[in-house]
Amino acid sequence: MRTIVKGTGMYVPDNVVDNHRLSKVMDTSDDWIRQRTGIVTRHFAGPGQATSDLAVPAARAALAEAGLAAEEVDYVVLATMTPDYYFPGSGAILQHKLGLPRVPCLDIRQQCAGFLYGMQVADALIRAGRYRNVLLVGAEVHDGFMPWSWDVVLGTADREVSAEEFAWNTRFRDRTVLFGDGAGAFVLSASAEDGAGILDVEVRSDGEHAEAMWVPAGGSAFRPFFDASMLARGDTVPIVQGREVFRMAVTIMPESVLSILKSNGYGLGDLRLLVMHQANLRINEAVQKRLGLPDDKVYNNIQKYGNTTAATLPMAFHEARTARGLVPGDLVCFVALGSGLNWGAALYRC
Ligand code: ACO
Repeated sequence: MRTIVKGTGMYVPDNVVDNHRLSKVMDTSDDWIRQRTGIVTRHFAGPGQATSDLAVPAARAALAEAGLAAEEVDYVVLATMTPDYYFPGSGAILQHKLGLPRVPCLDIRQQCAGFLYGMQVADALIRAGRYRNVLLVGAEVHDGFMPWSWDVVLGTADREVSAEEFAWNTRFRDRTVLFGDGAGAFVLSASAEDGAGILDVEVRSDGEHAEAMWVPAGGSAFRPFFDASMLARGDTVPIVQGREVFRMAVTIMPESVLSILKSNGYGLGDLRLLVMHQANLRINEAVQKRLGLPDDKVYNNIQKYGNTTAATLPMAFHEARTARGLVPGDLVCFVALGSGLNWGAALYRC
């Protein structure tokens, strides 16, 4: 019994924000953002649009491609670091919005590696013979982290921001230009077909580096979880030790790819496509270079969407299937590293 990807889907919200727009609210430029990150635009959810709202259309598209009716889904796994609420998790909210039966719904909190962890869980559930069709979604709405002048960013107001606002927004510019919102979904199903399917998932964690990428406010380390002084200090905005994370990503991601290939008896030459987490185009170019892979064996879409955290892998695979013309038999490797630290790789035979 193998786990195959029976359908994929993605969704990004309508608001497209380019780098020029960001330069209206903080000291940044299109040049800086493109050169250091490769990002040109990102999509942001509108007011009232929560993570589960982005997950719904992505999931519907994946279910439609899989030809699966709602009642045939028997498990939901949602990877997100930006759930609709502190509790409950958004998996059950997604289930309800999709009109699915009362199947188990699990939220995964592994940030940029969340989708990989989800693949591992879904694969284990299916291979154990317990479930046949798992809906796996990665979705994020990062907006609440951004301490911005949203009316100007979304273009609902045409005003000059004050010097004070500009300085405040600029304080967080190294991280806040990186993120975008989006959702990607896989329908993972049991298959007796020979060869195709998830071959392996290798994931790892190391909490020693928890503070390399984290949000200080809002958890049980504090009483109360939130207070006004945290907002005033900017403790609700992610902290990213950019250079350190960059260094770890360009070292650990190639190691993860080589490790999973080796443990499954393959080499780089067997790979048809490497789907990388989309945190920074320069990270992915460095990983590609270290592995010596030609351009047609990688696919990046961070230029359009920014870093959509748990949604990057399914969104990139969804687009790459067509863009890279994947055919049955092709070997695909997924790789990611993110906050936690959590990282790893998955091998999939189309
Ligand atoms: N616009 C203009 N200038 C900026 C900006 C900006 N948005 N951000 C930083 N700068 C300035 C800095 O202040 C600094 O100025 P200085 O030289 O006068 O001091 C200069 O640019 C260089 O700053 P660095 O931090 O050295 O820039 P770097 O090239 O390292 O790029 C970046 C920063 C983009 C954050 C990069 O380190 C990176 O991408 N790291 C990895 C990030 C990552 O993986 N994030 C994962 C997200 S967390 C998650 O997904 C959950």
